[in-house]
Amino acid sequence: MKPINVGLLGIGTVGGGTFTVLKRNAEEITRRAGRPIRITTVADKNLELARRVTGGDVKLSDDAFAVVADPEIDIVVELIGGYGVARELVMKAIENGKHVVTANKALLAVHGNEIFAAAQKKGVMVAFEAAVAGGIPIIKALREGLSANRIEWLAGIINGTTNFILSEMRDKGLPFAEVLKEAQALGYAEADPTFDIEGVDAAHKATIMSAIAFGIPMQFDKAYIEGISKLDAVDIAYAEQLGYRIKLLGIARRRDEGIELRVHPTLIPAKRLIANVEGAMNAVLVQADAVGATLYYGKGAGAEPTASAVIADLVDVTRLHTADPEHRVPHLAFQPDQVQDIPV
Ligand code: HSE
Repeated sequence: MKPINVGLLGIGTVGGGTFTVLKRNAEEITRRAGRPIRITTVADKNLELARRVTGGDVKLSDDAFAVVADPEIDIVVELIGGYGVARELVMKAIENGKHVVTANKALLAVHGNEIFAAAQKKGVMVAFEAAVAGGIPIIKALREGLSANRIEWLAGIINGTTNFILSEMRDKGLPFAEVLKEAQALGYAEADPTFDIEGVDAAHKATIMSAIAFGIPMQFDKAYIEGISKLDAVDIAYAEQLGYRIKLLGIARRRDEGIELRVHPTLIPAKRLIANVEGAMNAVLVQADAVGATLYYGKGAGAEPTASAVIADLVDVTRLHTADPEHRVPHLAFQPDQVQDIPV
């Protein structure tokens, strides 16, 4: 069976996890994808790190632009992050007819409309399960699992760092700054942790989920965003006394006027399941008309949980790659050039 060739851009935490899991579970993954998925090239500025992680099994390059132009590569996995060079590389990969798998929530929330329009024009796929809630297959749940439903709303704990901070402040009475340092040391936080604390990362993820759930474009700029930086230990203690937990929720809700999109600390009755999601775990609650409420729970960050989502996309894209391009299903359910900007 002819393998599908993958170029991996970025061999940090998630890149390393992807490499390891793909190797460890090669047999199962090949069976599910219908053919072997082979990482042929890894691009990273740190070649020494790339050599260490890959054991020198693959081609290494410090020029990611050469990888996205390589005619041998079928799928580009972008794990660099940020809006700068990652955006250029993703657009170049699409222009060169490559499918793209990315974990880059910031890039998709802010530039996703342009990226999906380009991909659709070129007839390639852009898959992004790892961009939201790490290992929880929430994108596939919203897009495929709930495809018979009219989704009414969704609400999620979709930032592990802030959930970890809130849990530790409550359980151990530790000050905010100290717990943040711990979250950074554990590798949960973004490169710029203000994205976590001020709710921006959660808003990126809520924006992506809302696009899938409601068939609207990415409208990150219209989201209401409030983080946890103004919360004090005393707020958490008072909430506790009154029988509530404070959680940073990302919420998207269908309204008559359009789709409401917001991120803010929320009081949740302590007996609710979602109020008991602790530490860096994530959970998303979805209310839909046919199935009712469903709850998705799991690890929202970390090397192998996120790699699990990256590889699920590789399997998905490999299966669809063999389909006649006319019958390929776009990974975003809306037609980017046909939707109106719905006020949120
Ligand atoms: N900083 C993110 C979080 C990482 O804390 O959830 C996973 O997207």
